[in-house]
Amino acid sequence: MAFSLSSCVVFIFCFNLMFYHSHLGAEAYFPPITPISYLITKNLFDSIFLHKDDTACPAKNFYTYESFIQASKCFPRFGSVGSLSTRKREIAAFLAQISHETTGGWATAPDGPYAWGLCFKEEVNPQSEYCDSTNKEWPCYPGKTYKGRGPIQLSWNYNYGPAGKALGFDGLRNPDIVSNNSLIAFKTALWFWMTEQKPKPSCHNVMIGNYVPSEADIEANRTVGFGLVTNIINGGLECGIPHGSSVNDRIGYFQRYATLFNVDTGPNLDCAYQKSF
Ligand SMILES: *[C@@H]1O[C@H](CO)[C@@H](O)[C@H](O)[C@H]1NC(C)=O
Ligand SMILES: *[C@@H]1O[C@H](CO)[C@@H](O)[C@H](O)[C@H]1NC(C)=O
Repeated sequence: MAFSLSSCVVFIFCFNLMFYHSHLGAEAYFPPITPISYLITKNLFDSIFLHKDDTACPAKNFYTYESFIQASKCFPRFGSVGSLSTRKREIAAFLAQISHETTGGWATAPDGPYAWGLCFKEEVNPQSEYCDSTNKEWPCYPGKTYKGRGPIQLSWNYNYGPAGKALGFDGLRNPDIVSNNSLIAFKTALWFWMTEQKPKPSCHNVMIGNYVPSEADIEANRTVGFGLVTNIINGGLECGIPHGSSVNDRIGYFQRYATLFNVDTGPNLDCAYQKSF
């Protein structure tokens, strides 16, 4: 509810933040105290994503540092809320989740399995067109597929539609743009991260400790931590299962990145005992 019109206006015109700042007043937009580029420098980004531009990676040269930083300016609260540790942990968690979604790593890969994030732009063998035809609000466009694309592997018509609406592109008619334009690609990942889709909280609110569990959440063991973010992203397939390999891959990325950011991971890394939403 709170996330509707005014936030979208800011997103669509995020290139003109200062303009909107002066016209909408201080309440519309608080600039972050320090931009996230101070917490994640180009050097740190490069040491996190050691292999994303390898010839072996289909996304070679697509996911640039500059696009990531530019996209983050449309979401001024990302990595900007709470203590320095909270801010670093949120960024590390985001980068870990997008790394698992786009990983090119394997157990014996050079530099280990967790040095291969951002290797893929789009899903290689989609099992379907990801069209939920019962969804009348975001109807699929003939001939288009809503397979995983971009850093978060945005999927389904009911995500492409609202993401496009919030970010200023036609997600239903032109879903391909998510894997053709790296700025839009990063924006879709941040949109997913920042946006609450009830009954799920936003990944952002979980990582900054701004999540208040409902009765149903308490019964389902949905306690705050990185595991809950995994539940938000793909809980239906990955949560409530002990020793899930995907969950462990997400955790492996998070632990490596937390070390590089020099921050602890916090509790509840897995979702083995959580029910999905
Ligand atoms: C995206 O790029 C591919 C080739 O990489 C091209 O075939 C396709 O037409 C492009 N789509 C859009 C929407 O630009
Ligand atoms: C909640 O977690 C406990 C273990 O900590 C487990 O025994 C229980 O089955 C879990 N409940 C649900 C709903 O998954």
